[in-house]
Amino acid sequence: MKVIDDIRKAYYQNFTSIPMNASFRKDNLPPSTISKVTQNSAIGRKHGELLFRLVCEFHPRTLIELGTSLGISTLYLATPNSQSKVFTIEGNAKHLAIAQNRFKISGLKNIVAIEGTFDEKLPQVLDQISQLDFVYIDGNHQQQATIDYFNQCLTKSHNHTVMAFHDIHWSKGMEAAWKHICNHPRVTVSIDTFHLGLVFLRKECLKQHFVVRF
Ligand SMILES: C[S@@+](CC[C@H](N)C(=O)[O-])C[C@H]1O[C@@H](n2cnc3c(N)ncnc32)[C@H](O)[C@@H]1O
Repeated sequence: MKVIDDIRKAYYQNFTSIPMNASFRKDNLPPSTISKVTQNSAIGRKHGELLFRLVCEFHPRTLIELGTSLGISTLYLATPNSQSKVFTIEGNAKHLAIAQNRFKISGLKNIVAIEGTFDEKLPQVLDQISQLDFVYIDGNHQQQATIDYFNQCLTKSHNHTVMAFHDIHWSKGMEAAWKHICNHPRVTVSIDTFHLGLVFLRKECLKQHFVVRF
């Protein structure tokens, strides 16, 4: 994963200004830099490598990511298997363009980067896939939105689908959404690693919840 570490380092050292405004945001944020966005938004190395290992272990063919940002987490999801297809959705066009450029330089051809809001684009992606094997949700950390995205993803999920949610303890709303997801009748095993919540739907497993110091 040195390649991804090097991309992260290059982003850290890039002080080019980028806009923070996007159609889904009501507030008017001042521009930031590639360096700051990476520091504030990109998945940490340890959890990125966990995503990478989950993909290596479960071999998902069709993956959806909500929240591309500059593409760091997408790289962890897409690198293990060139035969997989990773749909990644991002509402900030400028951020997505930087990510797409990076995917191109990395030679990854299995990423479908989609610009738009999750509300608009997730149903469209779900419509065009027959089944969803892995989902990573890392954006719009509101209670009801998170539950809605989870419910939408369930419609194309199957016994071996794996779901990962970032920032499950970020706010009271996210705590409530995570609790709701863990209690959902289709969820059997849930794992709380604090920053990342993992959910499995396997019917052969007893309903169990694990809290892991990671
Ligand atoms: C935490 S960042 C994602 C970080 C990325 N997964 C990574 O690890 O590199 C969340 C991203 O979701 C995007 N986002 C948030 N709410 C959104 C929405 N409703 N529709 C589309 N994009 C959204 C933001 O623009 C931001 O880039």
